Amino acid sequence: MSTAWKITLAIVAAVLATFTIGVLSGKIWWFSEEPPLMVVPDMDDQFHLKPQGEARFFADNRAQRDPVEGALPRVGRAYPFAMGDVDSAEKYFAAGNPLPRTDFVLARGQNRFNTYCSPCHNYTGTGDGLVQKRGFGNQETMNLTREQARAYSDAKIFHVISAGQNIMPPYADRISETDRWAIVHYVRELQQKAAAGSTQPNGMAAAAQGSTHSKDMQ
Ligand code: HEC
Repeated sequence: MSTAWKITLAIVAAVLATFTIGVLSGKIWWFSEEPPLMVVPDMDDQFHLKPQGEARFFADNRAQRDPVEGALPRVGRAYPFAMGDVDSAEKYFAAGNPLPRTDFVLARGQNRFNTYCSPCHNYTGTGDGLVQKRGFGNQETMNLTREQARAYSDAKIFHVISAGQNIMPPYADRISETDRWAIVHYVRELQQKAAAGSTQPNGMAAAAQGSTHSKDMQ
């Protein structure tokens, strides 16, 4: 046998052996559900923390961190008014809700409300969401359908969503400005329903629920 043949055979044997060992050990991805053997893993598989999880690194043991002071949103603009500065907000947003109250806007408002607000305020806005039932806050002040909250201006509701109120955290950094105004329309809808004696959330908009993963309106 020539030297060239010997080298070729050796290479073929080495490839076959590697392949066989790979398959047997479950490391070849098209035969296995196991994570593949990565010779150069780059940054594919990194240490990470889960939202709502625990992280001993931080003094409060919480993995989820608030944005650092002065962080700006990647899209949109920073909310300019501090929690409690309702007067400035009411002056600035005196024109009220800039969005028209259309079926689409209400459906979007419901979708965002159900995601971000219902854990505390419940789907009906009555303040008895799961988080409240487990001891967070006071249902009385969390009831968005109570008379006092019904009398709030659109600007004030927008301000509370954006900047928070007492123990309610601000949402300006995670819900776009347009979506916050859509939520204001939907809160109004819930308040009107409650005033009319109906506890049913908006049925018309329920059909639009499938769009949970759609991108925030900008
Ligand atoms: C983590 C729980 C939590 C979430 C989530 C939450 N809130 Fe609140 N919210 C509260 C608490 C607690 C209060 C009462 C604060 C107080 O005592 O002044 C409140 C108060 C309010 C008020 C003022 C009610 C009043 O009568 O003064 C409005 C309006 C409001 N929330 C709207 C919203 C909207 C809209 C969302 C979703 C974008 C939302 N909240 C998400 C906890 C929450």
